[in-house]
Amino acid sequence: MTSLPHVPGSIDALAQALEGAGYFADRRLATAAFLALRLGRPLLLEGEPGVGKTELAKALAQVLARELLRLQCYDGLEQREALYEWNYAAQLLHLRAAEGKSSSEEAEREVYQPHYLIRRPLLQALQAPPPGAVLLIDEVDRADEPFEAFLLEYLGEYQVSIPELGTVRATVAPVTILTSNRTRELHDAVKRRCLYHWVDYPDRERELAIVRARVPEAPAALAEQVASFVARLRSAPYAGQFQRAPGIAESVEWARALVALDRLQLDPEVVQDTAGVLFKQREDVAALGQELITQALEPEI
Ligand SMILES: Nc1ncnc2c1ncn2[C@@H]1O[C@H](COP(=O)(O)OP(=O)(O)O)[C@@H](O)[C@H]1O
Ligand SMILES: [Mg+2]
Repeated sequence: MTSLPHVPGSIDALAQALEGAGYFADRRLATAAFLALRLGRPLLLEGEPGVGKTELAKALAQVLARELLRLQCYDGLEQREALYEWNYAAQLLHLRAAEGKSSSEEAEREVYQPHYLIRRPLLQALQAPPPGAVLLIDEVDRADEPFEAFLLEYLGEYQVSIPELGTVRATVAPVTILTSNRTRELHDAVKRRCLYHWVDYPDRERELAIVRARVPEAPAALAEQVASFVARLRSAPYAGQFQRAPGIAESVEWARALVALDRLQLDPEVVQDTAGVLFKQREDVAALGQELITQALEPEI
């Protein structure tokens, strides 16, 4: 296999380049991404919301100097939104203008030209000029099973047949990242096609590095407290009391909020007052009571 331009030569080099793009990957995630690039396989990232799945695709695009093309999945997503559709309005206008001037066959040929094609991300990814694109198929668990079946075919061949125009093959195969929040199991066949990585919450050190990088204006002691407090909320015995633990996005937002409030350090009052930045569910905000906060703020022994 030919080596791709801009692809860092080792796992460490990739991790470092990602860090340069503001993304902090642990060793296992960096390995998965490195292998996906080297083997030319799609990478499926599963994990809780807010752990950095989408962000990895953005950072990879930056590192590889490739265009990022994003397909956001949802229930009812159809091929014409994912792949292509004909621009009916423009076609109709053309037909009307051509009325009386060209034969109906001619007119039909004219309106099925690439000019009238609206390219959606999956087709754009095939036609991206070198060095090619990073294709992010985001939250694939939200799409339905027929779409998954279609996706499987697409990932297998990186080509698409457009009846009126013929087959479009990838100029350069896109670097493909699929993400799932695991609201349902994906089909085995899709998983088999991909390399797989479960993205976990970061450990305290990595989270601290992220908060520092994203909120450089936060005082060092505050950033440390934020990372420690959030790490505690995600671990026993606290984690069990929440429906959904705060993600990295919440830690970053929280640090920003505390800076906006001119806070130099955490205390139980400010934690409770800003609970809505950490948790997005009423029950979780309620579960973050004074007693729990005081306990979780105590220094580690
Ligand atoms: N490893 C990371 N390094 C730097 N920032 C991160 C990392 N993971 C998450 N973030 C931050 O958290 C936010 C949410 O991450 P995102 O990728 O949207 O989560 P997910 O797609 O898993 O729900 C990002 O915008 C980014 O600010
Ligand atoms: Mg996401």
